[in-house]
Amino acid sequence: MSVVAAATEVMRVRDLVVEYSSRDGPLRAVDGASFELAAGETLGIVGESGSGKTTLAMALMGLAEASGAKVRSGSVTFDGVDMLALPSRRRRGLRGKVVAMSFQDPMTSFNPVWTVGSQLMETIRAHDRQATRAEALDRARNLLERVGVPAEHVGLLPEQLSGGMLQRAMIAVAIANQPRVIIADEPVTALDVTVQAQILQLFRELLASTGAGLIIVTHDFGVVAELVDRVLVMYAGKTVELADVNSIFHTPHHPYTAALLRSRPKLEVTIGRSRLAAIPGAPAGPGEVSAGCPFRSRCQISHGRDICATDDPPLVEVGKGQLSACHFWKEVTP
Ligand SMILES: Nc1ncnc2c1ncn2[C@@H]1O[C@H](COP(=O)(O)OP(=O)(O)OP(=O)(O)O)[C@@H](O)[C@H]1O
Ligand SMILES: [Mg+2]
Repeated sequence: MSVVAAATEVMRVRDLVVEYSSRDGPLRAVDGASFELAAGETLGIVGESGSGKTTLAMALMGLAEASGAKVRSGSVTFDGVDMLALPSRRRRGLRGKVVAMSFQDPMTSFNPVWTVGSQLMETIRAHDRQATRAEALDRARNLLERVGVPAEHVGLLPEQLSGGMLQRAMIAVAIANQPRVIIADEPVTALDVTVQAQILQLFRELLASTGAGLIIVTHDFGVVAELVDRVLVMYAGKTVELADVNSIFHTPHHPYTAALLRSRPKLEVTIGRSRLAAIPGAPAGPGEVSAGCPFRSRCQISHGRDICATDDPPLVEVGKGQLSACHFWKEVTP
């Protein structure tokens, strides 16, 4: 994968910093994310609640401001164009073509009083103004069939679809304009296990047939194991580890990654639905840790080590294609 990655990079994120304003001053929800995505690659973003995953996903879409956040610095480049530097109109055009998103809760992204088909048609015509109504309807029906929703459902309201069907329709919206990168925030979290497995299978088929890249935000290491090529682990807004999926599972080099893996239910019995269980201690919120490593209060290997309290560990390459932000990464055991 990484050999291909160098040749066919579609997206590049550099030093992205995203903040919310709060009464106590700026809250840095994403603190310096940097990564590349290759064509056809799947990147998983994992971390506990509040670690900044959704904020990062929104910023990658150019939607930070729309969700009340502000991009302080950094760049998000698609095919060499810095999306964050574009005026908002051009950004919108790029967004449909290059990125589309399937949201955590599809009910909030479908308008409840419009039929599923009319929303699909609107998406199609927003990017292809030449398409007639009849053509858009035809394409909407084809798209629904492609994601496993009967074409007749084109005339139904969102509430008339089951959760799984609605999720499929959401994916149809996401792929309507042949995006090169899909960003999906917790796409299967709200679904029951059987439906989750079907949706993951659908993602796999669509990625294989379209060659789109996928950035998937998830709490769930079962999803990671089934779908993901590379994993970005977030803690308190920071990237603490970035590596291919095998390294993450077999040779994690950050104690937080190792703790997440230990806290997950046994994979063989729960694949597809294992959730991240609690790691002892509360996760640090963004900006709560002023100096040193944000994970140190919950870390099993930092005890009594001054450097962890004084120096924020930089994210450095610790193995082939594997980055870790831990002073003592050599001591991490899976
Ligand atoms: N609109 C907002 N205004 C102020 N702070 C926010 C806002 N949205 C999120 N935050 C804060 O930013 C941090 C990151 O939130 P974010 O939603 O990105 O986390 P997450 O990793 O997606 O969590 P979850 O797994 O629960 O979805 C949290 O501390 C959160 O409280
Ligand atoms: Mg979230």
